[in-house]
Amino acid sequence: MFTKRHIISTREFSKEEIDYVLSRAEELEIYAKGEGGKERKSDLLEGKILANLFYEPSTRTRFSFETAMKRLGGDVINLSSAEASSVAKGENLADTIRTVSGYCDVIALRHPQEGASRMAASFSSVPIINAGNGAGQHPTQTLLDLYTIKREGLLDGLRIALIGDLKYGRTAHSLAYALSLYGATLFFVSPEALRMPEEIKMDLKEAGAEVFESTDIKEVIKEANVLYVTRIQKERFPDPAEYSKVAGTYRINTELITENEEVIIMHPLPRVDEIDAAVDGTKNAKYFLQAFYGVPVRMAVLSILLGNGIG
Ligand code: NCD
Repeated sequence: MFTKRHIISTREFSKEEIDYVLSRAEELEIYAKGEGGKERKSDLLEGKILANLFYEPSTRTRFSFETAMKRLGGDVINLSSAEASSVAKGENLADTIRTVSGYCDVIALRHPQEGASRMAASFSSVPIINAGNGAGQHPTQTLLDLYTIKREGLLDGLRIALIGDLKYGRTAHSLAYALSLYGATLFFVSPEALRMPEEIKMDLKEAGAEVFESTDIKEVIKEANVLYVTRIQKERFPDPAEYSKVAGTYRINTELITENEEVIIMHPLPRVDEIDAAVDGTKNAKYFLQAFYGVPVRMAVLSILLGNGIG
């Protein structure tokens, strides 16, 4: 499997590798909750250290990496703001990575620049996990998204609508690539200005994916079994006026769900106003469960990467 390698993009995964992560996550799920006393504790990564290097805000990704490592008996060191580190003194990323990779066994890196994780990999003596590189990719989010879809029994013959900011949304980019391995039908729903980049659409079509585009959720909701809703990535807009034009474009509410009572609603979170709070209590809402699945999935990724006798 992919012991000791960097995880930068979902394009670098085969379907077999992804399936393996998902099945490992399933085995580790009982440990992810931390319930059940001593026999439900794992020491698979005892003595190993994860460095969380986050140069952009994060709640779920950073915490679930930390929880995953701790549930496996490992330790975590954290950089949660550039201001609190030597970056504030002018240190460049290469020097930070060269230094930090001497203090740990694996690094989870989130950075606003798309080239950051690949560059970091070339300076690191330990595996780099891309935990979000600007508008690029977010591969471990994709693994937990796929895990959620699989746990809902929907991975085979999936028909999924990716909704919202498909231009800047890294979770949508990573997920679309991975889904092309599963023969999913993809509906891209976005405002005109935030369409899925041409180059990604071309790659997907080359990989044999069926891709449809629309600006209106109502056009696709009856066709889809999953709505994957995303936040408009305000921080990536060069011009705030352009953001105001598209802010609040889509809103999933209980009335919309009546058009397809079976549809599953996912969201990588955080949400701003894309999903009404009234949807949270419906059987369709899976986004908080999805956030929890970040723990078993990252446990699987970390244990495979650090190669403790498995994988
Ligand atoms: C996403 C991200 O950071 O790309 N969040 C996450 O990791 N769960 C989505 C977002 O910020 O909109």
